Amino acid sequence: MTTLTPADATSTPPLACLGGLSAVAFMASHWQKKPLFVPAAVPDAAGVIDRETLFELAQHPDAQTRRIACKGDDWTVDHGPLRPRQLSGKGPWTVLVQGINHFLPGADALLRRFAFIPYTRLDDVMASFATAGGGVGPHYDSYDVFLIQAHGTRRWQISGQADRALRPGQPLKLMTDLRAEQSFDCRPGDLLYLPPGYAHEGVALDDCITLSVGFRAPTHQELAREFLFWLADRIDLPGFYADPDLNATTSPARVDEGLIGRVAALLQNIRWDDAMVAAFLGHYLSEPKPHVLFDAPDDALGAAAFARAAQRHGVALDLQTLMLHHGEQVYCNGEALMVEPALLAALCDLADRRFVEGERVDRALAEQLYPLYLAGHLHLARPGN
Ligand code: SIN
Ligand code: CO
Repeated sequence: MTTLTPADATSTPPLACLGGLSAVAFMASHWQKKPLFVPAAVPDAAGVIDRETLFELAQHPDAQTRRIACKGDDWTVDHGPLRPRQLSGKGPWTVLVQGINHFLPGADALLRRFAFIPYTRLDDVMASFATAGGGVGPHYDSYDVFLIQAHGTRRWQISGQADRALRPGQPLKLMTDLRAEQSFDCRPGDLLYLPPGYAHEGVALDDCITLSVGFRAPTHQELAREFLFWLADRIDLPGFYADPDLNATTSPARVDEGLIGRVAALLQNIRWDDAMVAAFLGHYLSEPKPHVLFDAPDDALGAAAFARAAQRHGVALDLQTLMLHHGEQVYCNGEALMVEPALLAALCDLADRRFVEGERVDRALAEQLYPLYLAGHLHLARPGN
């Protein structure tokens, strides 16, 4: 079974990170519907990242970082990579680093705790450091988010208010008036889930680090535009424009109705079906973000040595790799893989679990995985994995 429904609620285990709710019950009662506060949901959250590592990442050219500060009513936003002096200073400020799961296996493991939500929806883990009084101001997000406190204390004020007017002329999205309905002081390990559009403001009560597990929420416009780009390369409309019934004109610059009608009829022949939509989604949703680059292995093993090592240690997807499957198709980092039917189950399993044990790697699977190893999309698992 790949999809669980509310009928499965009693047969799925309670999850500590959801306060004892099962994944099925959470999806039915909270996901995209209402907030959930869970004290001590992720007791080991502090181990995901410390201040030193966060500051290192904030200076890293491949990390996406923002520094937000507020003096009175004046908000400033600086984009990374940051310089060391931007990571100190008096007063309230905060630094936010996106995609720390691409750098830190512990952050990837945190993301995977939410793997009861399809990978097509998962986005990344962001970490924010804030000094006392720091935060990103009152706002709402267009996506679902699990806010997990890693260090220090942050006070979240949240509201389901309908009025979401924004302050004009600000460098970031700030609501004019957040009327808090609930307040939570989140300490290390506490989790607050917020559905899209729910107003919130988190203010650090002391130096604190918060982790946000965020989800993808492309706009309808973006989905449609990307699909049409994808479709453009797959349209098959043979022939040339022809107009044997064209009439002579005294206004040659005019776009005539006959032309419009013929082209409109031609465009009616553009068709797509669910299989094409599935293929588009596989490509599009497994496409890494533009800043993501993969490192080919130094001193790459030959195919036979790779097979032997894969059989000994197993294979793990790179932290940046996006791998999805649908039916007989497997997509890896924006490409559809040519998959032998006999290997389909093993590849789907690798996509779901992001790891395959050595004893499950046979020669054929090793051959299939070898090009992905050479491209840096997967690695030999470290002994002990
Ligand atoms: C933060 O960590 O400061 C911001 C997270 C959020 O409000 O979504
Ligand atoms: Co937010």
